[in-house]
Amino acid sequence: MELREQITEAFRARFGAEPSVLVRAPGRVNLIGEHTDYNDGFVLPMAIDRAVWAALRPVAGRQCRVVSTDQGGEATFDLDGLERPDRGGWIEYLRGVAWALEQRGCRLSAWEGVVAGDVPIGAGLSSSAALELATARAFAAVSDLAWDAAAMARVGQYAENRWVGVNCGIMDQMISAAGRADHALLLDCRTLEFTLVPLPPAVVVVVLDTGTRRGLVGSAYNERRQQCEAAARACGVGALRDADLGALARCVDLDPLAARRARHVIGENERTLAAASAMRVGDAPALGSLMDASHVSLRDDFEVSSPALDAMVTAARSAPGCLGARMTGAGFGGCAVALVRADQVDPFVQAATADYQRATHNEPGLYVCRATDGAAVVRR
Ligand code: GLA
Repeated sequence: MELREQITEAFRARFGAEPSVLVRAPGRVNLIGEHTDYNDGFVLPMAIDRAVWAALRPVAGRQCRVVSTDQGGEATFDLDGLERPDRGGWIEYLRGVAWALEQRGCRLSAWEGVVAGDVPIGAGLSSSAALELATARAFAAVSDLAWDAAAMARVGQYAENRWVGVNCGIMDQMISAAGRADHALLLDCRTLEFTLVPLPPAVVVVVLDTGTRRGLVGSAYNERRQQCEAAARACGVGALRDADLGALARCVDLDPLAARRARHVIGENERTLAAASAMRVGDAPALGSLMDASHVSLRDDFEVSSPALDAMVTAARSAPGCLGARMTGAGFGGCAVALVRADQVDPFVQAATADYQRATHNEPGLYVCRATDGAAVVRR
């Protein structure tokens, strides 16, 4: 059974009626542009066919009641008196989004419903952004709020930064809010302007889950952010988006570690713009080479890869039909992404799986993913 049927079924079983609203918000895979978003730079993600769904109906009063079929359990929360996270776990993403919406001055109505998703958690495919945007979509539907993708992405990011306590950039929420079928989005993280970039013909995007989950990502992620901010200050710019390699070379006082972090960001912004241009002219080999270069830079200069991610990228690179591969998302574990010739997907998956298993003894998960639309009400 598809998730959309499963969740409708679960709603009927719990609430004894048909849901009046069904929403879907996707996870994402980032093709290129990693650790650039919080440097005001460029990213090139696509929304994928793995998503968080919610089936719901409005209720009178201020109490929301939500069942999570995959996390297990039911939770309630009051829209009045939302002040701080106090329970932990999945429900805090919903409470955080409700809080962030109310902070923006939205007057929310309550709902009850079921949430479920098939975005693997902690795998670098933005399961939390998908849950945030599904929640925002649900509240927008029952509270009659206008849907502005960029504004809602900011709400999700605000909830994640201030309520959940993860200091993420805007990429994940923005692509979950604004994704478009068959396209990646070239997103300017300074202005939130984006352009749609079609996927090149005759290639597919394969997600390669290493089966490892990232550990202490919060502290390492925040440390990278601080190093980038320090490098920007030393180069005399507000954000590394505005620096180039010449300015970096002139920063003689910058410590070598911060300089390497900055070199990654500066190069990655250039690669991301070049990747979008390559896609626009259907040049898949050029896109693949840029993805390869991105991985090397993330591994050596930004140091956010892991032995499992490196082994997966090596396995992908030597498998038939592969045009390029890199880690995707924050790093330290989770998934890689590869660009593969469509007519060689089966031998690619077989060879990359076997090679990775031999190298690591981990159980990988490889799947072809389609680019889908962003958060939407699927049925009312
Ligand atoms: C995580 C964050 C994003 C972005 C990526 C790295 O996914 O949530 O904002 O910084 O890492 O590119």
